[in-house]
Amino acid sequence: MKILVTGGAGFIGSNFLLTYVPKYPNHTFINLDKLTYAANLYNLKDISDAKNYFFVQADIADFESVKTVFDRFEPDIVVHFAAESHVDRSILGPAEFIKTNIVGTFNLLEACRFYWKDKEDKLFHHVSTDEVYGSLGGTGYFTEESRYDPSSPYSASKASSDHLVRAYHRTYGLPVKVTNCTNNYGPYQFPEKLIPLTILNALEGKPIPIYGKGQNVRDWLYVKDHCEAIWAVIQKGRIGETYNISGNEERKNIDVVEEICQILAEELGRPVTEFKNLITFVSDRPGHDLRYALDSSKIRNELGWKPKETFSSGLRKTVKWYLSNAEWVSAVKTGEYKRWIERNYAGRLQG
Ligand code: NAD
Ligand code: DAU
Repeated sequence: MKILVTGGAGFIGSNFLLTYVPKYPNHTFINLDKLTYAANLYNLKDISDAKNYFFVQADIADFESVKTVFDRFEPDIVVHFAAESHVDRSILGPAEFIKTNIVGTFNLLEACRFYWKDKEDKLFHHVSTDEVYGSLGGTGYFTEESRYDPSSPYSASKASSDHLVRAYHRTYGLPVKVTNCTNNYGPYQFPEKLIPLTILNALEGKPIPIYGKGQNVRDWLYVKDHCEAIWAVIQKGRIGETYNISGNEERKNIDVVEEICQILAEELGRPVTEFKNLITFVSDRPGHDLRYALDSSKIRNELGWKPKETFSSGLRKTVKWYLSNAEWVSAVKTGEYKRWIERNYAGRLQG
């Protein structure tokens, strides 16, 4: 089996490849990644010499590049992670999100339609997000049947890509599966996202920015549990179906940040106030969705998947990972990262 993984040098893609390349030596894994700011090949150093692993730097928004990869490797399965993934970046500059998330997904689908004349044992697995459903109030859950109502350019671009994937199934019979997952956290997450940003700012004694009043709720899942859910759907999920993935671990942002402060205090033997005093409420994200929460009973009942980590166990593992990977942390904090922090937070912190 030849498995083309797009975006395999990003956060979730790296965790996926690090898990499954060693576990399945008889499968060939091809990592197609543009290597944007969010990518880091250093994540993959443990598998880079594996005989069943290949890396190709390419842009999914460029159809000719995608075709070259299909010509060379003739993949049977595509696991599509590649995306622009950060909501705040989509607000400040949506164009790349349209190119990568919509046009890029379209190009991959077109390549599959062109190359997979015989659809036997073929699969396009599309990795998507709970953000396509929009925002919830204080109660209730989104199911696979909930209507789409995306708020940000990021979630609108992911919603468009989900629709394209399903349209290729209905129109051309392309064998597809879609998973929509809640917020991930864990090793190798780029520190623009709430959890790693909080850990690193706290360690450096910098303000920990919380948008609005910190009352927004996210449903958190440890990244390796997400990867296992995707693998379960690839192996056992039904063609044409959508599976929601969640950890049922809802937290207000302020509570997430305070829990990180507590873990840091315990791990470093320092007073918790040293970290909590850094919490700074800043101006809100425009169109900030109040709450995400998914009903994931379909994947749990049908495929027997369930997460291994609780939020507390996964968060402690994550904090410890950042504490013991100082080299990785300093490598990602390049000029580009510093420019992003300045661009996104300068006005907010003053306001
Ligand atoms: P990430 O930003 O960490 O990584 C994205 C990867 O895609 C990077 O390696 C980047 O170089 C690559 N990429 C970007 N544009 C590309 C292009 N044009 N061509 C080829 N490669 C390109 O993202 P992530 O957090 O790992 O998310 C992976 C997928 O999972 C995304 O589709 C995202 O929408 C989805 N998702 C993420 C979360 C989450 O909490 N992080 C939750 C649910 C779903
Ligand atoms: O729900 C799944 C989505 O989760 C994925 O599709 C996205 O790719 C992923 O980035 C994530 O989106 P969020 O916008 O929820 O994640 P982020 O870490 O950016 O923000 C989490 C919450 O924390 C959100 O309510 C905004 C808030 N926040 C974020 C940052 C970066 C802050 O309060 N301060 C911050 O500095």
